[in-house]
Amino acid sequence: MLIDMKSLYKVYDLGETEVFALNGVDVQIAKNEYVAIMGPSGSGKSTLMNIIGCLDVPSNGEYVLNAQKVNELVDDELAEIRNKEIGFVFQTFNLLPRATALHNVELPLIYNGTTRQERKEIAKNTLEKVGLGDRMHHKPNELSGGQRQRVAVARALVNNPSIILAD
Ligand SMILES: Nc1ncnc2c1ncn2[C@@H]1O[C@H](COP(=O)(O)OP(=O)(O)OP(=O)(O)O)[C@@H](O)[C@H]1O
Ligand SMILES: [Mg+2]
Repeated sequence: MLIDMKSLYKVYDLGETEVFALNGVDVQIAKNEYVAIMGPSGSGKSTLMNIIGCLDVPSNGEYVLNAQKVNELVDDELAEIRNKEIGFVFQTFNLLPRATALHNVELPLIYNGTTRQERKEIAKNTLEKVGLGDRMHHKPNELSGGQRQRVAVARALVNNPSIILAD
C-alpha cells in the first residue's frame, strides 16, 4: 500500500469545546489508484487530505506512507516528503497574492535547488500544459477563478510528484 491509515482520529481542541473531525478512519490506497473522497461540507475531507499530505498530524492512529511511519518522522523529513513526493492543490488554492502565476509555479522548484534558468523553463512548460501560456505574468487577482485553480494545479504538478492530492 502506498497510503495506509488505521483508526485515525483528529480532534480540534478549541479550549471550551472539541471538534471531532475524524473518528477512526481506515484508508488504504495503492500505487496508481485514483480515489475520490466524497462527503457533506464539514465532514472532514480537508482534514483527512491535510493529514495524507503531511501538512497536519492525526491526534491518534497510525499513518504509513510508502512504508514510512509518518508519526515517527521529524519536521525536516516531512518537509522533504511534501516537496518531493506530494503535489497539493488546496481547496482555496493558497497562491501567493503578490507573485505572478509563473513565480507561484516556480516556488516548489526553488526549495529543491533547481537552477533559476531551469526553473523558469519547467514552470513555463507546466503553465502551458494547463492552458495558461498567455497569463504567466498575471498575479492571482488578475486571473479568473478557474485560471487561479489551474495555476494551483500547475504548482502541484511542477515537481513531478508521485502523489497528487487535489482538495
Ligand atoms: N482548524 C480547525 N479548528 C477547529 N475546527 C476545525 C478546524 N478545521 C476544521 N474544523 C472543523 O472540522 C470539521 C471538518 O472540517 P473539514 O474542513 O475537514 O471539512 P470538509 O469535509 O473539507 O468540508 P468542505 O466540503 O466544506 O470543504 C468541521 O466541522 C470544521 O468546522
Ligand atoms: Mg474542505
